[in-house]
Amino acid sequence: MGRRILIVDGHPDPDPGRYCHALASSYAKGAAGMGHVVHRTNLSELDFPDLRSRSDWEDGKPPAAILAFQGQLAWAEHIVIIYPLWLGSMPARLKALLEQAFRPDFAQGGKTVSPGGGKLKGRSARIVVTMGMPAAIYRIFYLAHSLNSLKRNILALVGIGPVRDTIIGAVESRSDVSRKRCLEHMRRLGERAA
Ligand SMILES: Cc1cc2nc3c(=O)[nH]c(=O)nc-3n(C[C@H](O)[C@H](O)[C@H](O)COP(=O)(O)O)c2cc1C
Repeated sequence: MGRRILIVDGHPDPDPGRYCHALASSYAKGAAGMGHVVHRTNLSELDFPDLRSRSDWEDGKPPAAILAFQGQLAWAEHIVIIYPLWLGSMPARLKALLEQAFRPDFAQGGKTVSPGGGKLKGRSARIVVTMGMPAAIYRIFYLAHSLNSLKRNILALVGIGPVRDTIIGAVESRSDVSRKRCLEHMRRLGERAA
């Protein structure tokens, strides 16, 4: 039985040469090939303003692009978020998307934080992060802090789990063979909807 998979390509740059886009495509190809139903959201194509106030977060009407994205999140059984590490964290534009979409009434089921109280409970997720530094440095020296923040402070808080991760380090210095191997790894993850 195929799973409903939402791939969030969280690279703000529409340049087709960005590696994150290729990783998203490989995952999508593997998943579709095994009969999973895939929807892909490209952050670089979304038009929405930054969220600027608590009153908007709690009581405002989300912009059309955000309403559509919330619908895709609610539809999905498995969510894959792919982004490049920028200044030690996810790109600001991706954070802006999550701030807009994870509004209390949608993601928490009300203004009181209640894990799993909203519409996202029970979904599994995978986070894929690319970066210039070696993955081991990010995990051991930096303790993967921004990745853990996304897992615990954002996804777990709204009941999404389990959340798995793939860190692809030293992206710029990898050989073509190594880059292709990572793409193949993504394709196989897509096949398993993992
Ligand atoms: C604005 C910016 C900030 C970056 N900050 C970091 C960083 O803090 N740590 C790091 O290891 N790499 C950093 N990088 C390198 C990117 O993570 C790397 O170029 C990216 O993951 C490659 O994937 P892409 O081809 O999809 O862009 C940064 C790159 C840019 C453009």
